[in-house]
Amino acid sequence: MRAMAVENVDIQPLFATPFMRADLSSAITQKQVEYIQNLPMIRNRDNMISEDLYIFRHPELKSIADAVQEALNIYARTIMGISQTVYVTQSWALLNQPNVGMHSHAHSNSILSGSLYYCDLPEPVSRVFFDRHTTYQQLEIRPDPDKANLYNTSVNTITPRKGEVLLFPSSVNHMIEQNGSKDLRRAIAFNTFIRGKLGDYRDVSELDLV
Ligand SMILES: [Fe+2]
Repeated sequence: MRAMAVENVDIQPLFATPFMRADLSSAITQKQVEYIQNLPMIRNRDNMISEDLYIFRHPELKSIADAVQEALNIYARTIMGISQTVYVTQSWALLNQPNVGMHSHAHSNSILSGSLYYCDLPEPVSRVFFDRHTTYQQLEIRPDPDKANLYNTSVNTITPRKGEVLLFPSSVNHMIEQNGSKDLRRAIAFNTFIRGKLGDYRDVSELDLV
């Protein structure tokens, strides 16, 4: 048999989309869980959303907002490698009734988005689907079922756990699986933006975001 003509094959990722999860349970009290569950909710498209869209500003939820800020700081320093502050802008409570999910969407005017599973998640836990594509795909070249890898996968799935915060770039399309249980599926979601200086004064690219 002839020896392989191709040697020293080396495959590396050029870029990657980050996703961070962290456990914030120690910052959440039962009293806060009840407080969030009692917030007035109104109809969203299919699910329910809190009337107030800045719930992390409520003093009652301060320890949770602080823990989310800590998680954002880790993301900013470790993943983004920046010293500016990524802070929460809008924050809201969500409720999915049985058979209700959330259509695919991304978040505008936001750097990172996140969700926080502050209370028990009904079983089976609806998963979060992340879709790498942001535009119409004229060509869909799918890998063979057993050949999925980081390069060819178009959808990645996360099953959230109680007490967890999930952080990801706001530009990433995501959808929530239908609630397959008979109970309500509750979560908090939030958007963020950057505070601090970007760019360079002499380059006339400076932007001071306060
Ligand atoms: Fe979302």
